[in-house]
Amino acid sequence: MRLNKYIADAGICSRRKADELIENGNVKVNGATVKEMGYQVEDGDVVQVNGKKIDAVGKKVYVAVNKPLGYITSMDDDKDRATVAELVSDIPERLFPVGRLDYNTSGLLIMTNDGQLTYTLTHPKHEVYKTYVAKVAGVISDTRLAKLRKGVDIGGFVTSPAKVKVIKQMPRHAIVEISIKEGKNRQVRKMFAAVGNKVQELERVAIGEIKLGRLMEGHYRKLNREEIEYLKKL
Ligand code: URA
Repeated sequence: MRLNKYIADAGICSRRKADELIENGNVKVNGATVKEMGYQVEDGDVVQVNGKKIDAVGKKVYVAVNKPLGYITSMDDDKDRATVAELVSDIPERLFPVGRLDYNTSGLLIMTNDGQLTYTLTHPKHEVYKTYVAKVAGVISDTRLAKLRKGVDIGGFVTSPAKVKVIKQMPRHAIVEISIKEGKNRQVRKMFAAVGNKVQELERVAIGEIKLGRLMEGHYRKLNREEIEYLKKL
């Protein structure tokens, strides 16, 4: 198998990015740096990227995880916080989160060892609607709704049109469903802050047509064939 495919299949990055890593001398096979693009990996070869051995190609695994609050979306943490890797630790393949979800946000996170899919889903060109349910302080007026729908300035960046629906308005807070295409850092919180409503709780309930549904917090489920095909077609 070509070295770039081997690296992408291991979930590290896309094939294109793997080519860059190879070209830049970040990849070793059996201890020796390989810069040759078409290098063929043989059974038993040990491949290292940036000094770390990567796992041999296994089967592709795709799961939906319900991330609780207080977990970070990376594979390890130098501050010893809980990571989403712990939520899928009984799966033998090494899975990576597709994109990020804040420490204080709960809900749907896709994890996979398919590097190509991760790349596609997180590339701005391919962004899909991600749907969140937010509990926000105060009243969501029609003016605020209109601003959120049109796009707001979140500090040097104007968001693209969002789909926004008030599920319930209570005296002191509101439950609002919002779908956005981009994935800027803390985007939903910043969007509500821009119109004067502080987000108190935030949960992601869908990524495109993949729904969180009744998946319990801290649990995962394997995506079914239709869901995987849907993601690959995006
Ligand atoms: N927007 C946020 O503010 N936080 C998230 O985790 C995701 C989107």
